[in-house]
Amino acid sequence: MKFSNLITSCAGLIVGSALLIGLAVQSEAAEFSLAKARVGDGIPKSLTGKPGDAKKGRSTAIHRKRGNCLACHTMPAPEQADHGNIGPDLTGVGSRYKPAELRLRLVSSKTLNSDTLMPSFYLKSGFHRVQKKWKGKTILKAQDIEDILAYLVTLKDK
Ligand code: HEC
Repeated sequence: MKFSNLITSCAGLIVGSALLIGLAVQSEAAEFSLAKARVGDGIPKSLTGKPGDAKKGRSTAIHRKRGNCLACHTMPAPEQADHGNIGPDLTGVGSRYKPAELRLRLVSSKTLNSDTLMPSFYLKSGFHRVQKKWKGKTILKAQDIEDILAYLVTLKDK
């Protein structure tokens, strides 16, 4: 093979793999299957393969337009007023549940209790009367779920 041909094929390979990686990232959410991911009472595997960032997770969780967990839960976030009490107090929730159990509750609390008021933050189907802008979208992104999970794990009973 001529040297210039070799260079061209190498460049082709590099571009090809970059495309493949791009595709893999894009199809991440599309390929998520709760039935496959669920083991018993939890989802043991990270949704992203990357560890969560507890600090980001905390800010997403207490953000009124993002996680909005405070609408229903009391949390150790004294800087925010008006915590809800529709759901249980999340203080100490990291001692009550294993990480896999918390991940399932964030992804799809409806799986455990079809009547729950808690939104299924990482499910695309099974909703009724979805607004157009939300069709085919999850409420939170996979990495948001992992970040919030990393934060919840830190909420241990003293
Ligand atoms: C609209 C109300 C609502 C919102 C918003 C909400 N939850 Fe919940 N959550 C509940 C209710 C109600 C329960 C009790 C379980 C049930 O209903 O089956 C619950 C249960 C939980 C549990 C299990 C706690 C336990 O002690 O059993 C966790 C963990 C949790 N929620 C985390 C969150 C997080 C984190 C957010 C924000 C990203 C959030 N929830 C947003 C209503 C809500």
